[in-house]
Amino acid sequence: MKGELILLLSVIVLLQVVHSCPDKCHCHSSTDFVDCSRQGLAEIPSDLPPQTRMLHLQDNQIHQLPAFAFRSVPWLTTLNLSNNSLSNVAPQAFDGLQHLQVLNLTQNCLLSLESRLFRSLPQLRELDLSSNNISHLPTSLGKPWENLTVFAVQQNQLQQLDGALLESMPSVRLLFLKDNLWKCNCHLRGLKLWLEKFIYKGGITDGVICRSPDTWKGKDLLKIPHELYQPCPPPAPDPGSPQTQQPSSAYGAVPRPPENHSSGERDLLGCEFKPKPRPVNLRHAIGTVIITGVMCGVLCLMMLAAAIYGCTYAAITAQYHRGRLAQTNEPGKTEGKELFDSSPA
Ligand SMILES: *[C@@H]1O[C@H](CO)[C@@H](O)[C@H](O)[C@H]1NC(C)=O
Ligand SMILES: *[C@@H]1O[C@H](CO)[C@@H](O)[C@H](O)[C@H]1NC(C)=O
Ligand SMILES: *[C@@H]1O[C@H](CO)[C@@H](O)[C@H](O)[C@H]1NC(C)=O
Ligand SMILES: *[C@@H]1O[C@H](CO)[C@@H](O)[C@H](O)[C@H]1NC(C)=O
Ligand SMILES: *[C@@H]1O[C@H](CO)[C@@H](O)[C@H](O)[C@H]1NC(C)=O
Ligand SMILES: *[C@@H]1O[C@H](CO)[C@@H](O)[C@H](O)[C@H]1NC(C)=O
Repeated sequence: MKGELILLLSVIVLLQVVHSCPDKCHCHSSTDFVDCSRQGLAEIPSDLPPQTRMLHLQDNQIHQLPAFAFRSVPWLTTLNLSNNSLSNVAPQAFDGLQHLQVLNLTQNCLLSLESRLFRSLPQLRELDLSSNNISHLPTSLGKPWENLTVFAVQQNQLQQLDGALLESMPSVRLLFLKDNLWKCNCHLRGLKLWLEKFIYKGGITDGVICRSPDTWKGKDLLKIPHELYQPCPPPAPDPGSPQTQQPSSAYGAVPRPPENHSSGERDLLGCEFKPKPRPVNLRHAIGTVIITGVMCGVLCLMMLAAAIYGCTYAAITAQYHRGRLAQTNEPGKTEGKELFDSSPA
């Protein structure tokens, strides 16, 4: 009896060694679920069970993630880091998480993210980056993120988002973009075009409400008419000269080649589009020339007619005066008859 008890105790101790659980966490070994939420943690606990699949770290004060931060838990499928103080995330922080499907980073202090971060998570299905201070996302990811279906970046400081980044997410079905600082200038045109296609194919989004320029403030990007939404001008020949943001000079009537969606020109400033339609493309310009020509022609014809009429009238008047001179020598005739008589001469 005593021996059995010792055996049982040692088995329990052994199990605890194998299934070591960090002090401040609750480990539910049967479901590979480790809950370390709301424990005032400042960093990732070091002794997480290696077989952990679901890790709750939300509501702590973790402010940085070093490279390979989750090296000890390679089987993670769900990682919840929401409501922490993350601002400093190493580009390789999530490296090794080959199986991660859900990553929740909402309510942190992230300012930007690198494409390297995304690329280390090939199986990701849901990425929640909402309620951070993100003002910059990568232009593109290099290779497609095949399984990503949910992408949330609402409540951040984004001014623009490249269509190419969204192109890297061919499976995305839910897209949260609300409450950012969307700058609805020509650089957001790629996003507008992408979203139209996305919604047409059944995708769901909470919408892009413009924050600037003033013309479009409060307007839904998707409701801005296409003809008022012009592609960006080609990059300025001299990048050293400061770009002006004057509304009238930013757009001329010069025909502009179609936009090249490459990354080279995305950092150009001063391309806010104007609310008034302008003859920007070549067909409009040609049309304008034709209409102007026709109107000039009509005007010239009218002037010619007026000149001819004027000359004729002058000739008639001159003859009338000549007749009148003659009439002074020959009184008795009525003025009407006199005019009638003299005109055919
Ligand atoms: C965020 O975490 C703190 C503890 O760190 C907690 O007091 C607070 O209620 C949490 N906020 C939300 C919205 O859950
Ligand atoms: C992350 O934690 C929050 C609570 O802070 C919870 O509402 C949310 O569902 C969790 N998300 C995931 C993916 O576990
Ligand atoms: C992330 O956590 C928040 C709560 O903190 C929750 O509202 C949200 O749905 C979660 N996102 C995902 C993708 O599960
Ligand atoms: C996407 O998910 C499927 C099914 O779970 C999986 O077979 C495939 O490998 C995943 N794609 C990538 C790029 O990991
Ligand atoms: C994050 O954004 C909030 C609200 O826009 C702002 O009050 C705060 O200062 C920003 N924090 C950082 C670190 O930029
Ligand atoms: C767009 O730019 C890239 C390089 O920046 C170039 O390779 C490509 O040919 C350009 N496409 C067009 C249509 O001009």
